[in-house]
Amino acid sequence: MYQIVKRQKLADKIYLMDVKAPRVAQYCEPGQFVIVRMDEKGERIPLTICDYDREAGTITIVFQTVGESTEHMVALQEGDAFLDFVGPLGCASDLIGEEIEALKKKKILFVAGGVGTAPVYPQVKWLHQQGVACDVIMGARTKDLLILEEEMRAVCKNLYVTTDDGSYGFHGVGTAQLQALWEEGVRYDHCVAIGPMIMMKFVAKLTKELGIHTIVSMNPIMVDGTGMCGACRLLVGDEVKFACVDGPEFDGHLVDFDQAMKRQAQYKTEEGRAMLRFVEGKTHHGGCGNCGGDE
Ligand code: NAD
Ligand code: FES
Repeated sequence: MYQIVKRQKLADKIYLMDVKAPRVAQYCEPGQFVIVRMDEKGERIPLTICDYDREAGTITIVFQTVGESTEHMVALQEGDAFLDFVGPLGCASDLIGEEIEALKKKKILFVAGGVGTAPVYPQVKWLHQQGVACDVIMGARTKDLLILEEEMRAVCKNLYVTTDDGSYGFHGVGTAQLQALWEEGVRYDHCVAIGPMIMMKFVAKLTKELGIHTIVSMNPIMVDGTGMCGACRLLVGDEVKFACVDGPEFDGHLVDFDQAMKRQAQYKTEEGRAMLRFVEGKTHHGGCGNCGGDE
């Protein structure tokens, strides 16, 4: 069992938990994710790692209540435990594999949207620990939904906060802030965008125009996170990839967002899953409990 040692409400429907999982904490890298399960009948929930403490043996997860399983997760208190806490899964961020001196020469920007701020944080913190400076644009619909602002400010060079309604910081979305900075003469050559699919689509569209190499995290389309359900299948260039085993990070200029969003919507209904099974056949070979491939 994996004990919850800290539980904190960050904003409406957004919660942080520190979970005791020493082996995951020992080996995880920024960009990777874990799968949690509350009990034997529980759904597998893939969550990107938000932070880790190798000495304390803890992993920090941040999640938003979006359905029955996450509503049950919220009911867990400090001292309660997850039955399963599997990880680290997926590939680490590309930045982790690069030479530190090469990273120091790059002008790196992160664009974080809403709950996507959580998986951005460990990458920025890791770069900070290596002496690599980077800028962050973090946005939320309104001031009360901003998370981890002080934590992020402590590890990045320039933090640009945006709210869609103008209640705090720059009035507008992250792409508008990037456009404004660009017009002021601020330049970047590498961007990591993590947030809602629609945000990543538009960040990638803008950065393609501006000539900024861009990485996105396709965590939102994962279901079982183990390569078994086929839900996270996507097109990257002309190659078929699976976000949970080949990613979650991909070249944002090559991802077919429209196809991924359409597939994500289709996967939510029984009829849609049946259609995907019909069209894609054995890519749905079961395991997630959702697609019916187990039957
Ligand atoms: P949200 O809908 O409130 O959007 C958050 C922010 O994203 C907005 O405030 C805005 O700044 C930006 N944004 C939204 N649409 C945009 C657009 N068209 N152009 C430019 N910027 C735009 O999101 P939320 O409710 O806080 O977060 C939930 C979403 O985050 C879910 O869709 C979830 O899948 C996603 N998420 C993604 C990851 C990941 O790894 N990519 C991780 C966690 C959560
Ligand atoms: Fe990748 Fe199921 S989430 S195959």
